[in-house]
Amino acid sequence: MTAADLVQRADSITTAGRDAVASASSLDELTEVERAFLGKSSPLNEIRESIKSVDGRDRATVGKAVSSARAALEAAVAERRVVLEAEAAAASATRDRLDLTIRGRDYVRGHLHPVTRIWRELEDVFVGMGYQVAEGPEVELDWYNFEALNFPPGHPARAMQDTLYVRLGRREEVLLRTHTSPVQIRVMEAQRPPIYTVMPGRVFRRDTLDARHSPVFHQIEGLAVDRGITLGDLLGTIEAFIHALFGSDIRARFLPSFFPFTEPSVEFAMSCVFCRGEGCTVCSRTGWIELGGAGMVDPNVFAAVDIDPETYTGFAFGFGIDRVVQLMYGVDHVKNLWDGDARFARQF
Ligand code: PHE
Repeated sequence: MTAADLVQRADSITTAGRDAVASASSLDELTEVERAFLGKSSPLNEIRESIKSVDGRDRATVGKAVSSARAALEAAVAERRVVLEAEAAAASATRDRLDLTIRGRDYVRGHLHPVTRIWRELEDVFVGMGYQVAEGPEVELDWYNFEALNFPPGHPARAMQDTLYVRLGRREEVLLRTHTSPVQIRVMEAQRPPIYTVMPGRVFRRDTLDARHSPVFHQIEGLAVDRGITLGDLLGTIEAFIHALFGSDIRARFLPSFFPFTEPSVEFAMSCVFCRGEGCTVCSRTGWIELGGAGMVDPNVFAAVDIDPETYTGFAFGFGIDRVVQLMYGVDHVKNLWDGDARFARQF
């Protein structure tokens, strides 16, 4: 072949090589193309081999043509490699990416029952006023639940309390406590005045379930026994806890009432938290919500626990915790609190 033929061939190899490089779609393909056009047995090498058969003065021309063909193809390969490497890196970044934003497994964490929460909040309010907390048994003796609280045997108030008796001991001697007031007696038996104690707990009555009554419910009792305690102290204490729990714009009201273990006795109410006293369905259009009972400790109760009523006076109060929960969370039926429906519980 003539030198001109060889130069011509080198040119067409360059063109073919550039096309092959451009159409290499992966790094592996590019390596193939590189070996084919620049490797030992490539056409360009064959041209270089055949330089020997060319006339001496034309050898340099052919040699230069081969060199520039090589240089052009090497440059094309290097350029294409950069592009393909970037593509490969991008592809692997998408393929192998760890999605750190993906959610893990949810573990549902429980929380306190709303009655437990308000129970504790009430304890906190009274502890803040200097009270201690005491608890008593749910299965109680007649003595604590009635007798020492000035309900003599046959007293009609025993029937009013819808007592659930337990078949134990003498007839009607053991019962499920109908209120937390028996804990007053237990505290006064165990401790001499001054006494400032609250007594939360579960109580039981043979009540028919309705929106606001349940045979099992919770009360918190308060007892203060000291020198010079007056009805004014009782009213102020009740007002203070209503303000602490519901806000200082809520008013307290007291109506005369009767309990065997307090004299005088009152029933206390607060202005309706929903209508602010205007009158709505929650407060039966009265503007007031009944909370509980209270009064000055009856001297007969002091006699039962051997505290001198000439030296000491005291007050007691008691009200339903479930009731307060219903008001605070707008729970329309008390059974919602206890029928164990997770959809209800999750709202709190
Ligand atoms: N124990 C009474 C009840 O359950 C409430 C009360 C407590 C009344 C303390 C006066 C004093 O109805």
